[in-house]
Amino acid sequence: MNTNELKEAFITLYGKPADALYFAPGRVNLIGEHTDYNGGFVFPCALSFGTYLLSRKNDDKVIRFRSLNQPEVVETSLDQLQKPQGKSWVNYPMGVFDQFIKRGVTFPFGLDLLIWGDVPNGAGLSSSASLEVVTGYMLNDVFQTKYTRVEVAKIGQKAENEFVGVNCGIMDQFASANGKKDHAIFLDCNTLDFELVPVKLQGIKVLISNTHSPHKLDSGAYNQRVAECKKAVELISKVRPIHYLAELTEADFKQVESSLDSDPVAHKRARHVVTEVQRTTDAVKALKAGNIELFGKLMNASHVSLRDDYEVTGVELDTMAEEAWKIDGVIGSRMTGGGFGGCTVSLVKDEAIDSFIQKVGTAYKAKTGITPDFYVAEIGDGACKLA
Ligand code: GLA
Repeated sequence: MNTNELKEAFITLYGKPADALYFAPGRVNLIGEHTDYNGGFVFPCALSFGTYLLSRKNDDKVIRFRSLNQPEVVETSLDQLQKPQGKSWVNYPMGVFDQFIKRGVTFPFGLDLLIWGDVPNGAGLSSSASLEVVTGYMLNDVFQTKYTRVEVAKIGQKAENEFVGVNCGIMDQFASANGKKDHAIFLDCNTLDFELVPVKLQGIKVLISNTHSPHKLDSGAYNQRVAECKKAVELISKVRPIHYLAELTEADFKQVESSLDSDPVAHKRARHVVTEVQRTTDAVKALKAGNIELFGKLMNASHVSLRDDYEVTGVELDTMAEEAWKIDGVIGSRMTGGGFGGCTVSLVKDEAIDSFIQKVGTAYKAKTGITPDFYVAEIGDGACKLA
């Protein structure tokens, strides 16, 4: 589907052309996993695929949500806009409307909306965050609320926390709103200070492998990890008051880790977070210094920590990463995103791409029975108005 076809589809469905077309990308995280809601560092980049949104004001005072990816059409009057709709996809854009209303925006008119996205669903590449951010970006434009990109990202995160019920951190929405072509975002999730770091790798591609695993990240398992980290903070705070796990360096952690003896699960979760924050800092330094080999080793170590200490991988993600590590020309490979299913991200030398896809694909299929997908990632820009 290209944008002209999308515009045509809008006319077919609503009888008139759209007022405007917006886009927000999905993301892939290079390193720094499950650190965002612990006040740590992340290093994601926006992708060239994402979610498109066409909108048109209407005089009927209703909001019509339609998606070319979902059969379900939801039409709601303005006074029903703040009511979540079961487990429907519309909760993502509706949650963003809810945030605008909570910030004092009133709707003198309705909106006809048409959404289409090319981020594979449930792949851990932030199809939901891109939907939230494109909705926020559109409302910011329509109501001239002048929120910054950072604020639009925060609105998207709050929508997901409060309306959808996933206690996610800020990484995905931030990357979708603030991404820059050929750059990754080194973000401090505590202060929201960030730096755009060029990712122009000579002779190396960022390859995404989709496990198509049936075990999708469900909000229950994710929220459980958030709660386990909170528990670790409470236990550590008895010997050294902290707000976030990421406040601790690895040396600090050694001094206080006996406070977690009573809770081995919280201990493992905290160890992952503290070491992952350090790996992320080291990885960004390595990239800037041109030491891509070290970057790759840190990616591999990140996967091991997510597998053994954070326990968010599973047989599909582990097989995909472990098979990748065997291939000559693979610099590094790890799961990306929330985990349990979804994708791995690998840095692969150009000449090894074909054999990677062939060998990893075959071994993965043999072990799991699932046919995977592979995409060479193009790092794109953050949210924008296209027309
Ligand atoms: C999901 C969440 C993010 C982040 C990652 C794990 O993608 O939405 O906030 O916590 O998992 O790094």
